[in-house]
Amino acid sequence: MKHFHFDTLTSTNDYLKEHAHELPDLCYVTATNQTNGKGRNQRVWLNEPQSSLALSIFIQHPKLEMNQYSILIALSIIEMLQKYHIKAMIKWPNDIVIDKKKICGILLEGRYDTYQNFLIIGVGININNQNFADAISKKATSMFLQTNTIYSLKEVEKNLIKYFKKNLKKSLQYFNNQMQTYKNYSCVLNQIITFDYGNSKKTGQVKEILDDGSLLIVDEENHEIKINYGEVTLQNLYD
Ligand code: BTN
Repeated sequence: MKHFHFDTLTSTNDYLKEHAHELPDLCYVTATNQTNGKGRNQRVWLNEPQSSLALSIFIQHPKLEMNQYSILIALSIIEMLQKYHIKAMIKWPNDIVIDKKKICGILLEGRYDTYQNFLIIGVGININNQNFADAISKKATSMFLQTNTIYSLKEVEKNLIKYFKKNLKKSLQYFNNQMQTYKNYSCVLNQIITFDYGNSKKTGQVKEILDDGSLLIVDEENHEIKINYGEVTLQNLYD
């Protein structure tokens, strides 16, 4: 995969969005500094140079559903962490957590119109961070904090891309094979969660993660509800 690296960008996701018309399919970009790193739901994503990896992958004319790419990248991050003997779980839809703390966030952004059809998969991994700002210190962790080891960001990046390529290739042949593996790492499956439903919040148990990446929930009135986006809260896990 073609790779572009910059010392400073506003956001690696924004760079790919702005250059979408001239980029080859399946390239990726990294930046040492992001001055306007973005998290989900208009949140800010802070990345500490040399400590956190900011990487975004560009998919021209996506062949899978957005949620399926979410599954592929989450699985690739889990496998990459396993290579370093770090066991993490996936908090649907897009967080990678260890012991209730977030080690990695994923931001997918797509454009599907007559002129453009692409998807951007943004990944922020806490690698060598030794501490976090007070506001997030109780809910964030890093590879360093898990293992007391300093890692090469470049090597982590290369490993992540290696697993992503492998999973992408497999999924284009037959996506469903990867769902079982994904479910093994899910920390929401069978759990009681709270989720947004219209303008209110509901509570229910996650019965299944469907092949399109959505959650099948049974609510307190015993109704089945399918959701394919939004935030969910687990009891005992950070908000
Ligand atoms: C989240 O958990 O809210 C998602 C965080 C995603 C952060 C990454 S860092 C690389 C890419 N560029 C961005 O501006 N955001 C994503």
